[in-house]
Amino acid sequence: MSPFLLTRTLPEDATDAALRADVHHGLTGTPKTLPPKWFYDAHGSELFEQITELPEYYPTRAEREILIARSGEIAAATHARTLVELGSGSSEKTRYLLDALTGLHTYVPVDVSESALTQAGQALVAERPGLQVHALIADFTAGLTLPDTPGPRLLAFLGGTIGNLLPAERAAFFAAVRSLLSPGDALLLGTDLVKDEKVLVEAYDDAAGVTAAFNKNVLTVVNRELHADFDPGAFDHVALWDAANEWIEMRLRSRTAQTVKIPALDLAVDFAEGEELRTEVSAKFRKEGVRAELAAAGLDLAHWWTDQEGRFALSLSVAR
Ligand SMILES: C[S@@+](CC[C@H](N)C(=O)[O-])C[C@H]1O[C@@H](n2cnc3c(N)ncnc32)[C@H](O)[C@@H]1O
Repeated sequence: MSPFLLTRTLPEDATDAALRADVHHGLTGTPKTLPPKWFYDAHGSELFEQITELPEYYPTRAEREILIARSGEIAAATHARTLVELGSGSSEKTRYLLDALTGLHTYVPVDVSESALTQAGQALVAERPGLQVHALIADFTAGLTLPDTPGPRLLAFLGGTIGNLLPAERAAFFAAVRSLLSPGDALLLGTDLVKDEKVLVEAYDDAAGVTAAFNKNVLTVVNRELHADFDPGAFDHVALWDAANEWIEMRLRSRTAQTVKIPALDLAVDFAEGEELRTEVSAKFRKEGVRAELAAAGLDLAHWWTDQEGRFALSLSVAR
């Protein structure tokens, strides 16, 4: 079996410091917010995998359909020897790319979830003798240093996770991605597309309540890591479509007036009855917007593929 390397690019206490800073900043601001990366402890990563199988959650199935149809073309267009994947999670859909990229030397999955990286990485090296897997526990918004592996490099960012970044964050992110690539290297980007509001809202508010449990998991993370006393049952899951910004918002709405204590931050946070805490934005895209955002970072859109129903797009762009 080829080796599975797992590298933590930030010391563990840096993760702790980042959580403290995000919670302090997010819960003392107006409106209250928390960044979505804190959903993904081991339980949150498991809940996300369950979401990908829900009847309402079409993005995973749509993106898988495109990967099955197009991985051969992606391989032919890129000849990648290193595949870097940001927010790789279970790497489940990545298998189609790994099958098609016959000259691949190293796969570099990058995620904040150590449990997801370990599970996916160990399974991949067992299944694919000869493939080097060098996993990185890292925050893809915080400046990445990639291992020195052979080019050409293909950087994949799947699942529509790009939509979790706000527009200014996306611009900074694309610029950072471009700096990780050499001219001719490529970015494979999954973007969920603007569509009927009902379809979008149901994808984030499923009948079985799995997305609600995922949303509330961030409170459990803050309780465990910062000794807070959030009662997840005292909040309702909310998913709504913001038509002006063309994004879905997930929020947690306080059922009553309540005060939450966060001893590790020496903080008491008051919630009014009905007050909402924003936990995720999931932007939906149109082709020309994606093209323009990529171009601004020095990435030229070369291919745009959608699933048959036109719900989701995979784009391949090339670094200038
Ligand atoms: C929406 S899931 C998508 C997972 C997988 N790529 C897919 O398509 O099914 C987002 C993934 O990105 C990871 N993630 C979220 N924010 C991150 C960040 N700032 N840095 C690194 N990974 C992050 C999560 O742990 C999770 O595995």
